[in-house]
Amino acid sequence: MMNEREKLDLITQISLDINEVKDIDLLLERILTSVRKFFNADAGSIYLRDKDNLRFSYSQNFSQQQKLPPGRKLIYNTFSIPINNMSIAGYVAKNRKTVNIPDVYSINDSVPYTFDSQFDIISNYRTSSMLAVPIINQRNDVLGVMQVINAQGDDGEILPFSPEDEPLIMHFANSAGLAIERAQMTRNIILRMISMAELRDPKETAAHVNRVGAFSVEIYEEWARDKMIPDEEVERQKDVLRMAAMLHDVGKVAISDLILKKPARLTLDEFEIMKSHTYLGARLFKNIQSDFDEVALQVALNHHEKWDGTGYPGHMDPETEEPLPGFEGANGTLKPKKGEEIPVFGRVVAVADVYDALCSRRSYKEPWDEDRTLEEIRQSTGKHFDPDMVRAFFSCLDVLKSISKRYPDEDEPQEKAD
Ligand SMILES: [Fe+2]
Ligand SMILES: [Fe+2]
Repeated sequence: MMNEREKLDLITQISLDINEVKDIDLLLERILTSVRKFFNADAGSIYLRDKDNLRFSYSQNFSQQQKLPPGRKLIYNTFSIPINNMSIAGYVAKNRKTVNIPDVYSINDSVPYTFDSQFDIISNYRTSSMLAVPIINQRNDVLGVMQVINAQGDDGEILPFSPEDEPLIMHFANSAGLAIERAQMTRNIILRMISMAELRDPKETAAHVNRVGAFSVEIYEEWARDKMIPDEEVERQKDVLRMAAMLHDVGKVAISDLILKKPARLTLDEFEIMKSHTYLGARLFKNIQSDFDEVALQVALNHHEKWDGTGYPGHMDPETEEPLPGFEGANGTLKPKKGEEIPVFGRVVAVADVYDALCSRRSYKEPWDEDRTLEEIRQSTGKHFDPDMVRAFFSCLDVLKSISKRYPDEDEPQEKAD
């Protein structure tokens, strides 16, 4: 058990940590990990508010995680529950009250809410003690609910949460509130940038870019573990990679509608213009001031490069559109980029973007079924894709499929691919 001094240090450290994270999904992961550690809780989840509902947005379960092979992730489904007194989380959000329950299976009759044992049945888990707290911002709006589950004693026995824990978890919920609000704002600004690109190219939908962002993070994480990249670096890069991957096609804002929305096959000249969305996108991030600018530039510029050197735009200075020194080809052409000359994040997003395009409906094709999609990716190994990246892709395929369910396509007309 920690002493008071250690607890105080940890509280300060947690607040600093969560203030560094910009991406909302990563932030929820970080908050929950820290809070579970602090209260020695086996499991926990975070619901975020979406109008009158709470959306189950993030979940961790240490003992379930332990049953999986190293590196595998728990798959959980998102769902929504109404903000009302029927459920524990609904009650907490509606009444802005912290609830401390010693055993969810013997909740006394004086309270309106009940525990929905469906969760336990589906996940084959036994929830006992629970501490649930509203996440509130400075304007006093409820942003969501944080729950920690099954406090553990030194010998792993399940205990109730102590009443002394209540003000502490409220403190965490407050710092979480500030950070969540900021991260949601960042995500929304990015989605607005994307909707500008989407106005131009209707297949770059919010669902597509959300999926490509999330796939990229999973594939990168898997690849990085194989390459023994240190955890701190992976965590830092994941944060910026998701946002950068979402913006892979942002350069399309600069491409004419006549080309983007052309209902027929592009001519060779038109395709040349279409290719420019890579370096035009890269130029948006050319004044590199942060890790994010750096990664976003890499992704925009390199997401159509291919491992065997047949992609585009090749070794180009995005600013001048000239070949980079040392990479001039014959009569002013550019040398192609191939293999590890293509920056890692370009190689990651290439797999994520193509995988999503294959599984999605486009105006010129129906969604491909799983077998056909996976066969295509397998066939492209070493040609379009980095073989190590494909290996990483297959290792996290079950997680990628759960992400697709999380960001489904709305039914809307789709345009042709580039
Ligand atoms: Fe693209
Ligand atoms: Fe795309």
